Amino acid sequence: MICAETPDALREAADAWRRAGERIAFVPTMGNLHAGHMALVTRARELAARVVVSIFVNPLQFDRADDLARYPRTLADDEARLRAAGVDALYLPDEATMYPQGRAGQTRVHVPVLSELLCGASRPGHFDGVATVVCKLFHQVRPDLALFGEKDWQQLVIIRKMVADLDLPVEIVGVPTVREADGLAMSSRNGYLNASERPRAAAIHRALRQGADWLRAGERDYEGIAARLARQIEAAGLRVDYLEIRRPDLGVASRDDRDWVILAAAWLGKARLIDNLRVRA
Ligand code: PAJ
Repeated sequence: MICAETPDALREAADAWRRAGERIAFVPTMGNLHAGHMALVTRARELAARVVVSIFVNPLQFDRADDLARYPRTLADDEARLRAAGVDALYLPDEATMYPQGRAGQTRVHVPVLSELLCGASRPGHFDGVATVVCKLFHQVRPDLALFGEKDWQQLVIIRKMVADLDLPVEIVGVPTVREADGLAMSSRNGYLNASERPRAAAIHRALRQGADWLRAGERDYEGIAARLARQIEAAGLRVDYLEIRRPDLGVASRDDRDWVILAAAWLGKARLIDNLRVRA
């Protein structure tokens, strides 16, 4: 596995692969890798001859300095996992490489409307930071395809729109959410939960499954369903940030729809947890 810290070092390897006609799949991450990230790597290996993974804890997408400072960094373990998984290149830029003009001097990518909803409403600027870093990484890595987890549904929808709107020559592949045995979506932030909080975190996924049952049974009072599900989650001691039923493209759902995604974010102790469930009737 090649470890590159600059775009030039990475390009040297990637150019040779391209010349040999090998497709390149790219998995951008912020590290602290778990089975959810590794599912993206596994899918990437199935889809392309070469796999590039990046680890960069992107300061532009953190709306709180304390969240950035305490974000878990486990590079040695991450590197070992990626090597064992047969990854071809690990790209590890530092902040000066990504943002040589500083955070304030960096040109930003803004995906309108979608960036303001849901997580964007409670984390101002978050999705501009995501779109900006992913756009830059795409130009540096120049992959044929890039993989993103459905766990971050809104992020996936925003990246797809950015790629379409900016004519970026990258195919975007979504990968299903990997969960713990009790249904909790795997996340680097689950590590913030203490022993008494951890079992209660599964309340989010349980509520989403309950909502799916109600939608499939024909209930269409989306706001009423959302309010009842939020109460279920709060009964387990979480504080709900949002719970909404929308179309998969995050448009407003109408009564005739038969395909939805239920999206939720909730605080439990120090952790802000997000999850979603696609439902078809
Ligand atoms: P990070 O949270 O490290 O996630 C990297 C990728 O792993 C994302 O595409 C995310 O959706 C996916 N992922 C995380 N948990 C998952 C799970 N339980 N099942 C399936 N996929 C999962 O998302 C980011 O980093 C950043 O915003 C990034 C895109 C790297 C830009 O900085």
